[in-house]
Amino acid sequence: MRHVCVVGLNWGDEGKGKIVDVLAKDVAAVVRYQGGANAGHTVYIGDVKHVLHHLPMGVLHGGILAILGNGMVIEPKKLLEEVESLPEEAIQQIRISDSAHVVLPHHGAIEKVTEEKATSPIGTTLRGIGPAYQDKFARTGVRMGDLIRPGFVEEQLPILLEERRQSLGGTEEGVATAVEICTRLRDRLQGQIVDTRQLLNAMHNEGQTLLFEGAQGCMLDIDFGTYPFVTSSSPSFLGVGTGSGFSPRKVDHVVGVTKAYCTRVGEGPFPSEIHGTEAEELREAGGEFGTTTGRPRRVGWLDIPALRFAAELNDLDSYALTKADVLNGRETVPVVTAYRRGDEILHTYPGGTDDLEGIEPVVENWPGWDVVNEQSMQPFMDLLEKETGIPVSILSTGKRRDEVCLFKPFTAEGELA
Ligand code: GDP
Ligand code: IMO
Ligand code: MG
Repeated sequence: MRHVCVVGLNWGDEGKGKIVDVLAKDVAAVVRYQGGANAGHTVYIGDVKHVLHHLPMGVLHGGILAILGNGMVIEPKKLLEEVESLPEEAIQQIRISDSAHVVLPHHGAIEKVTEEKATSPIGTTLRGIGPAYQDKFARTGVRMGDLIRPGFVEEQLPILLEERRQSLGGTEEGVATAVEICTRLRDRLQGQIVDTRQLLNAMHNEGQTLLFEGAQGCMLDIDFGTYPFVTSSSPSFLGVGTGSGFSPRKVDHVVGVTKAYCTRVGEGPFPSEIHGTEAEELREAGGEFGTTTGRPRRVGWLDIPALRFAAELNDLDSYALTKADVLNGRETVPVVTAYRRGDEILHTYPGGTDDLEGIEPVVENWPGWDVVNEQSMQPFMDLLEKETGIPVSILSTGKRRDEVCLFKPFTAEGELA
């Protein structure tokens, strides 16, 4: 078996989409296990930019199953847009868990009001993610499998949505549109809404290779991230089991994606954050504006204590290092190697939001580079391994699909060695 999981190690937008795309060409299926349209994953094929929100990156390679697992929350309108932008052969490769939840109009309405009224808003993507997971765990949600039950979309869904609109918010027009879109989604993908847990295990038993694609990043994990400034799902590797129904014990390799610096979009603690001209220059150089919302991303330096935490949380095997090219030409690269709290020096990330209060980053300068390649990056990658115990297996040298160096344990074909 050669199942691999790709996870984000920072606060999202690490370049997971690009790394998944690189690895996907050799697998039978790519699987999303959490999140929804809050994700925005990008890859450049030549000069053409492809952005996906629900669908895993593998769908852009021919002949690979694109599986949306039960841990996801699916926004019908956005998914239909994504599906309709693909060629018919790719659409046929999509499988959606019948247990994945549906994002409905009242979810967006609740979130908008909550964020507007909050004294300390989270700065969510406003895609209804939190309220959709609330309905899931309150056991009041609508699942993809409901949409294909005879008569559900025509008879029960309009009544349910109208009730929710009256008690929770939204517009009559929103309800009518949602029913129309759910009908279109059902008609388009009817035979492809299935038991994906069973499918994944059957593929495993047949000897096929699976690639799991995390969305967001582990610092946004509902349990282990900077709560409450987190998303409402489990982006870490630990989410694979409940989010897909596939045992994490069968996953052979976990690759964590990290930029050579850090970004965060939305509110919440960000220990290595920088401000002013230095931040503006880094944001411009890295094109750090949100894929989903267009918001400017907060920027900071690589955070070693946070990576140590992420390595443990995700039971990490190796790093995929991205966006080092953004720092080209610097003699040295600032890296946060510890935190200081009063007289105390912390080498590991202390935990939740409260624990981060009052900490100051300890910044060291690591050797820089003029161009990103295996040789020029060796000192930096060696230091990263020495400091965190995890080696780099994939070095991204630019935003395009073909701009990448694969090291052991991945051969040039992307197979586990
Ligand atoms: P994701 O959410 O983790 O998939 O990341 P996003 O797609 O939201 O943001 C990452 C951005 O960085 C995208 O615009 C990618 O095209 C770009 N990108 C990925 N890897 C590299 C890299 O190594 N160098 C550069 N310059 N850009 C990259
Ligand atoms: P990808 O998969 C970066 C952030 C939001 C907000 C918090 C909660 O592209 O890396 P939510 O809408 O999920 O309730 O928002 O999480 N966030 C992301 N930040 N990349 C993402 O996805 C994100 N998805 C959510 O900005 O701070
Ligand atoms: Mg993104």
